[in-house]
Amino acid sequence: MELLTYSNIASTQDTARQIALDGHLLPFAIIADTQSKGRGRRGKSWDSPPGGLWLTLALPVPSAEAVRQSAMVAAHAVASVVLTETGIRTLVKWPNDLLVKRRKICGILTETLVQSGTTTLLIGIGINVNNVVPPDQLPRATSLIRELGNSIDLQHLCASILNTVERDMNMLILRGFETFRPWMDANLALRDELVMVEFNDQRESGRVAGLSRTGALLLKVPDGSLKEVDAGSVYDW
Ligand code: BTN
Repeated sequence: MELLTYSNIASTQDTARQIALDGHLLPFAIIADTQSKGRGRRGKSWDSPPGGLWLTLALPVPSAEAVRQSAMVAAHAVASVVLTETGIRTLVKWPNDLLVKRRKICGILTETLVQSGTTTLLIGIGINVNNVVPPDQLPRATSLIRELGNSIDLQHLCASILNTVERDMNMLILRGFETFRPWMDANLALRDELVMVEFNDQRESGRVAGLSRTGALLLKVPDGSLKEVDAGSVYDW
């Protein structure tokens, strides 16, 4: 895969979108040392100082279902690499945040670009690696350096993550989400906890009960029934 690296850009998502629009061969990855307008989900900004890993992978994707599942698959890839490289276990706050001891260490933003019938998937991954996350400003975030007590090789981590995300996405496309479901279910954060889920301007609260066959979140709602949520954001109390 071709890697395009920058010292500072507004957002790797925006650069990847522009380069894909210009017809660049897929897959490719955009990596930046810092971003001046890093974007999170739901229009939030994303702090991207030096020392973190800020990248976007652009690759073709065959179906809307694979787009929806790709965020979880990317979370699986990052969690596997982080565990192998550092020994740190992260849990997935459905669908795509990675937490260490309830603090966010990685955020994933998936977007698409549709051009003459073909869909390009842009998987944006932000990981707090060697950047210090000030606890007074970001009490619900952490970084690998803080958890480990030492810095790690950013380039090596980046290469492993790109390879693993690409491998896992190929696996999703060939074999389907069923390959990832047992891992996702076993590594789900906030299990049995009361959460509020926001989706399509609606809110639903309930306890995290697990994942459906296709990767939807199963919520046990107050009347005791299970509700499947396909896409949304989870807030714990
Ligand atoms: C979230 O948790 O809200 C998602 C955060 C995604 C951040 C990454 S950093 C690399 C890529 N470029 C961006 O502007 N955002 C994503």
